[in-house]
Amino acid sequence: MGGCEARGLLWKFGLFFPLLTGCPAGCSQVSSNQVVLLDTTAAIGELGWKTYPLNGWDAITEMDEHNRPIHTYQVCNVMEPNQNNWLRTNWISRDAAQKIYVEMKFTLRDCNSIPWVLGTCKETFNLYYMESDESHGVKFKPNQYTKIDTVAADESFTQMDLGDRILKLNTEVREVGPINRKGFYLAFQDIGACIALVSVRVYYKKCPFTVRNLAMFPDTIPRVDSSSLVEVRGSCVKSAEERDTPKLYCGADGDWLVPLGRCICSVGYEEVDGSCHACRPGFYKAFAGNIKCSKCPPHSLTYVEATSVCQCEKGYFRAEKDPPTMACTRPPSAPRNVISNINETALMLEWSPPSDTGGRKDLTYSVSCKKCGSDTSQCEICGGGIRFIPRHTGLINSSVTVLDFVSHVNYTFEIEAMNGVSELSFSPKPFTAITVTTDQDALSLIGMVRKDWASQNSIALSWQEPDFPNGAILDYEIKYYEKEHEQLSYSSTRSKAPSVIITGLKPATKYIFHIRVRTAAGYSGYSQKFEFETGDETSDIAAEQGQILVIATAAVGGFTLLVILTLFFLITGRCQWYIKAKMKSEEKRRAHLQNGHLRFPGIKTYIDPDTYEDPALAVHEFAKEIDPSRIRIERVIGAGEFGEVCSGRLKTPGKREIPVAIKTLKSGYVDRQRRDFLREASIMGQFDHPNIIRLEGVVTKSRPVMIVVEYMENGSLDSFLRKHDGHFTVIQLVGMLRGIASGMKYLSDMGYVHRDLAARNILVNSNLMCKVSDFGLSRVLEDDPEAAYTTSGGKIPIRWTAPEAIAYRKFSSASDAWSYGIVMWEVMSYGERPYWEMSNQDVILSIEEGYRLPAPMGCPASLHQLMLHCWQKERNHRPKFTDIVSFLDKLIRNPSSLHTLVEDVLVMPDSPGEVPEYPLFVSVIDWLDSIKMGQYKNNFMAAGFTTLEVVSRMSIDDIRRIGVVLIGHQRRIVSSLQTLRLHMMHIQEKGFNV
Ligand code: ADE
Repeated sequence: MGGCEARGLLWKFGLFFPLLTGCPAGCSQVSSNQVVLLDTTAAIGELGWKTYPLNGWDAITEMDEHNRPIHTYQVCNVMEPNQNNWLRTNWISRDAAQKIYVEMKFTLRDCNSIPWVLGTCKETFNLYYMESDESHGVKFKPNQYTKIDTVAADESFTQMDLGDRILKLNTEVREVGPINRKGFYLAFQDIGACIALVSVRVYYKKCPFTVRNLAMFPDTIPRVDSSSLVEVRGSCVKSAEERDTPKLYCGADGDWLVPLGRCICSVGYEEVDGSCHACRPGFYKAFAGNIKCSKCPPHSLTYVEATSVCQCEKGYFRAEKDPPTMACTRPPSAPRNVISNINETALMLEWSPPSDTGGRKDLTYSVSCKKCGSDTSQCEICGGGIRFIPRHTGLINSSVTVLDFVSHVNYTFEIEAMNGVSELSFSPKPFTAITVTTDQDALSLIGMVRKDWASQNSIALSWQEPDFPNGAILDYEIKYYEKEHEQLSYSSTRSKAPSVIITGLKPATKYIFHIRVRTAAGYSGYSQKFEFETGDETSDIAAEQGQILVIATAAVGGFTLLVILTLFFLITGRCQWYIKAKMKSEEKRRAHLQNGHLRFPGIKTYIDPDTYEDPALAVHEFAKEIDPSRIRIERVIGAGEFGEVCSGRLKTPGKREIPVAIKTLKSGYVDRQRRDFLREASIMGQFDHPNIIRLEGVVTKSRPVMIVVEYMENGSLDSFLRKHDGHFTVIQLVGMLRGIASGMKYLSDMGYVHRDLAARNILVNSNLMCKVSDFGLSRVLEDDPEAAYTTSGGKIPIRWTAPEAIAYRKFSSASDAWSYGIVMWEVMSYGERPYWEMSNQDVILSIEEGYRLPAPMGCPASLHQLMLHCWQKERNHRPKFTDIVSFLDKLIRNPSSLHTLVEDVLVMPDSPGEVPEYPLFVSVIDWLDSIKMGQYKNNFMAAGFTTLEVVSRMSIDDIRRIGVVLIGHQRRIVSSLQTLRLHMMHIQEKGFNV
């Protein structure tokens, strides 16, 4: 069919399309996860599709504005009734597809814009398909085709549009699958519309080849079932190796999800843009991992690529246990400054460390001994008679004591320094030698040392000269140190006389003194140790006045007083500092956490993971580490703040596989995010209650980091209720509320304040059991889309939060009780939004004014009373969770108590048809019951306080007068009266009778 002829024909039918709105025919937006099986816009020649009958669909080739041919099929038999025009594609090979997508672009004429066609003109066409293993040629039997869908236009065009030459192009996509045969045909059935089929694109989706974490994942075809994922194992890129088995999941839309495991570049290779590159010469990488190549350590080199360990330069070595990252080192130089000291029985050798340690810290010394006669060239090894203390090799300190030597001998000691690479070097080992002659008599020691006097900062000592000094005494060396700090340092001084005054000491401190004498022959050994103490404040005066006795008395007296005072403090328990010092850090943490709550003995207390210095420690204290090979991820069920939430299975050795929910931490997280993410596990792991979501464990040692919890088949409570609006009995709803209250009782007993209790944070399992979830305190609020910033800067879910928590962040179990009342309301209204579309600001103001949510439709009066009780302004008046649980238990045991609905007890407003908005306490008795003061019913009635109106005007004197004698009860009634008055005001404003 020629283009000119076609144009004329088209113009007649008004299907001409050069100025189409939207994406023009040739501009198919193909993404990398689509594999195109057919695209008519890419066809070079005629399409050659089969049409039937001959006067139905017509092949018309147009030119677009770039002069490219567009092969279209058009039909417009709108005047004649009973149209059945078929257009069938050529056979299309399925390739690897399981599910195919058919994208059709078409224009469609609005029937109203064509005169005289009413009844015959249609605005839809039908799409069919048929699977077959091979082409059927021209054979075509419409009855073998299966209908996919009726396709209607979003936009049809009129004669006016035609006049403007602007036609509206519709794009519709339909999916078909599973396709099992080798290929298929598509067919378009026209039943009397005016259509131009401008393009047809048939494609399937795949997760395209990708490289993640150095692992390659091949093209993968998603499952036909759009909710399940295909698990694909990756293979490492060249020069990389597996760390944790790399896996990805292919989702239905051709997206890769939940990367698990990874590969790492092997030794000698580093990661550059997703592949592993060899280290350049001069660089090395000793360990597999995602670290960069490093420059060779000092004194090592490499001239080749992909080096794992650099070679040491000549003269430098690496000891067997030296890591490849360490510099090469060499043996040390010889020790320096060897000196000897000798006394009657012992010879002490001391030296300084070598000037060059060779770059190592593992320095040791060995001492060898030679005996030499008068002719020093004739030396012999000392032999076994001589002893070295502590030993003669492997000395760590730079000194040794030699015992059992013989007098009148020249001993030569050779001292060698060694380190971890000395054995690897063939060079001769440098040493330092000293020759000691033992021909003189050993020097005698200092005998007794006396303290002559002591002041706060000085001590005067004196001693006897040694009896037999070996030669003239040159001087004495006095070495001293604080007794308490013996290991730390010592001082020394010299004196020519056998006495010394040592100054600069600390008051009232014990010191140790040794003294040795130096003669021309050297030093004697040190004297024994002497211990003396400096004086205190009184001692200076005493020293001056010579009142030594007074000092002694004062010291003894002071000491006695100290002992008595200490005993007194210990016995009276006032010695707080002592007790505190004894308190272990764990106890401190618990004490800190109890936050003023009185905990009951035997009930576990919640520990805030933030009190751990190292949060990783908290998570491992409360959560089991799970080996990721035990987890099978099946599908993505949601997206959390930190990453995807998946469902899957967990296998525990010796147990049945269990279904689990898996929260993943997406890659690229920073430390803070990982800590916040795992915080929830550290909290959840401390709980063990059937109404609290159970933590199975965590994966922290491999990526991605995961939190594994029990699976709750029915998801979150709010959406579950919305999905099943009106489906449950009141008893079933109360059963759910009872479960939540029981979980909350457990949490409040543990000292845990949830802060974000709301139906969206309750999960429901297949038995309708409700469990509290979403833990993490402030973090929870960060994640909660309901949480809004308050004027004080905190992020708070206003509609669920008690006024004191909004106003000044006073979160407590009482504020959780307020939120529980809101959850009750959400449950009884099947997931209605609390306060509907009121703004947060209006919610705050109306609560402040005393407004409270009315009972949801069909709500038992007793439940709404409980809600109102939870919403008392005064937080101490709200019920405790233990009260709530027992109240609900009573209702469940006595279901008739649930039959009275709020609608039944409400006093209707004056104007008929108006819906009552404030279903409050309808009688004084109810009101008294709600504030737990029911025992005074008779007092109120007898004194004539029979309506809420009268009661709301009572004074404290009235309350006393009618016989409420207990101060606590008087207070409770007075503060509840304030709330009542606010209610009354509203009721009167709204025109209700009470
Ligand atoms: N969504 C978040 N946590 C879940 C769980 N434990 N079970 C089911 N869906 C969830």
